[in-house]
Amino acid sequence: MTQRKILVTSALPYANGAIHLGHLVEYIQSDIWVRFQKMQGNECWYVCADDTHGTPIMLRAEKEGITPEALIARVHGEHTRDFAGFHVEFDNYYSTHSDETRSFAEGIYRNLNDAGLIEVRSIEQYFDPLKQMFLPDRFIKGECPKCGTMDQYGDSCESCGAAYAPTDLKNPYSAVSGAKPELRSSDHYFFKLSDPRCQQFLRSWTTHGALQPEAANKMQEWLGGADENRLTDWDISRDAPYFGFEIPGAPGKFFYVWLDAPVGYMGSFKNLCNRTGIDFNEFWNKGSTAELYHFIGKDILYFHALFWPAMLEYAGYRTPTKVFAHGFLTVDGQKMSKSRGTFITAESYLQQGLNPEWLRYYYAAKLNGTMEDIDLNLDDFVARVNSDLIGKYINIASRCAGFISKRFDGRLSRELPPSELLRKLKAPETWKKIGLYYADRDYGRAIREIMLLADEVNQYVDSKKPWNLAKLEGSSQELHQVCSLAINLFWLLTVYLKPVLPKLADQVQSFLNLDEEKMKWDQHNVLFNEHQIRPYEHLMQRIDTKQIESLLAANKESLVNDTLAPAQATRAKAETSHISIDDFTKVDLRIARIVEAAHVEGADKLIRLILDIGEEKPRQVFAGIKSAYDPATLVGRLTVMVANLAPRKMKFGMSEGMVLAASDTDGKSPGLFLLSPDSGAQPGMRVK
Ligand code: 2FM
Ligand code: ZN
Repeated sequence: MTQRKILVTSALPYANGAIHLGHLVEYIQSDIWVRFQKMQGNECWYVCADDTHGTPIMLRAEKEGITPEALIARVHGEHTRDFAGFHVEFDNYYSTHSDETRSFAEGIYRNLNDAGLIEVRSIEQYFDPLKQMFLPDRFIKGECPKCGTMDQYGDSCESCGAAYAPTDLKNPYSAVSGAKPELRSSDHYFFKLSDPRCQQFLRSWTTHGALQPEAANKMQEWLGGADENRLTDWDISRDAPYFGFEIPGAPGKFFYVWLDAPVGYMGSFKNLCNRTGIDFNEFWNKGSTAELYHFIGKDILYFHALFWPAMLEYAGYRTPTKVFAHGFLTVDGQKMSKSRGTFITAESYLQQGLNPEWLRYYYAAKLNGTMEDIDLNLDDFVARVNSDLIGKYINIASRCAGFISKRFDGRLSRELPPSELLRKLKAPETWKKIGLYYADRDYGRAIREIMLLADEVNQYVDSKKPWNLAKLEGSSQELHQVCSLAINLFWLLTVYLKPVLPKLADQVQSFLNLDEEKMKWDQHNVLFNEHQIRPYEHLMQRIDTKQIESLLAANKESLVNDTLAPAQATRAKAETSHISIDDFTKVDLRIARIVEAAHVEGADKLIRLILDIGEEKPRQVFAGIKSAYDPATLVGRLTVMVANLAPRKMKFGMSEGMVLAASDTDGKSPGLFLLSPDSGAQPGMRVK
């Protein structure tokens, strides 16, 4: 077989949020594919990076009181940790905030400019006069122009689904400062996708087989008929203040984050090349015979199937071989939800002690290479992992390996009994069939085939009953051969499953005392003639439903937490292990008297509290306790507040702390219970 040269990417996650189970669908999907390619002996490189630029990251850093550089460095560590935790093995995990990415972004921009595909035009946009910045659509809120629902984003209404321009919103306000935005004009840089060259190129590129059929159809809708010109120019610049790369020759103008994000694929690969001597040009020059694959979610097809190929084409690079889009994740049939606890972070999954390979297996069993959504049904997850992985696959080793160690000194038999099943597992056509499923990302089919084989192996073991043979006089040789054959079959099943279960495969490799060669794809030579194996140690536990309950509880945010900034809520959740007394004393807890309590117009969860904590001026706090309390009953009572929480600007005004309330963690009993001190406590007293 000739060795293929392959470069694989996964979408770059934003550097302002935690990796969650939704993200992992893609990384696990691509990691399985890459591992399969590597096992076949192809030269395959897998790169990714954090997507570090843009307004949300800039504002998030500001809110945390740190520089964007410090934020992206911290998140880089978190993302790297989470990916490693799920055995997603990048050859390079980099950052778009890098010299390599900057230099490619500038070069591509220059080439597009030289090709006459950049145009500067003045546009009008909302500007926040308080923050002195132009506002991205998502940072403008107001009333929906169609249905009148309050607090809708500048691009679409979550209540009636209408899509509109921010300027259509009624009573718009800045989600950053609460100020009323003003329309201002400014020069923007556009990539001229409406140029006939781009239209023509994209019409042909989107139909030559690089896209899945359903994606190609979607693109034709976006492109319109041959006589139409539906593609509009793409605005690739943003005005300062912006965290990103300044456009060469355009002071105060920055590349829009989506311009440099895919360029980050090149940046990360270049960085890998610089460290290892791989030839970058061999993979990226026009006419390259290397293969380039992008794994992405269906929501970002537009960027990868239109903008990105056009950028590459007119900047003089090769275009992607294929773009593989997948669907979204639902949990128990619904969108992931923080209040249900199904917005599960990668970190919490691992912290709760769940095995990452359970999830890899379950996703693999559900994935099929199309853009359909996949559902993580938690009951099915438990049932499937326990019955397939433990009940079928691990069961083979756990029923046979002990006899090899105890009765035969850990040595397999010299010969194996004739076995049609063994022939089948070794047969080139079986490797080919399952290999094609992997190659087509039809992992569900691959898993079904492998589990059918596992069923047959179990039937064999059941029919031979080694536990009975072990008790029968004169059956020692048969026992030896039956168990040795079962171990051979178990080894082959392990190799078939290795792209999905790499860690388990490593454990099996060590238990069976095998060298790397024996773990490659397409194994035709078996039979460990008196091969010595190591004593069997249990390879994988069953899932206990209690673990799922704890996982949901750990990811459930109380109503009070919902009122915190997401950053604060995430950090609060993340710190679940022990803290030192110094950490605890950093929290300034005070007795507070509620001097005023009132509903907040337009907020369905909040009550506005005025709290006396013995300071000259009482504090205002917005608390998410409306579902449980009538404001009138709160006035006069004592409670406990966090007095040194950074003040937070909310739409309704400043929130200068937080009151403490208890709420259930299992979600079964509704309710919120404000804390009260025993009588005698006075406003301002420290709680410790
Ligand atoms: O949608 C997202 O999460 C983006 N950060 C993906 C970028 S993919 C690539 F283009 F960089
Ligand atoms: Zn609406």
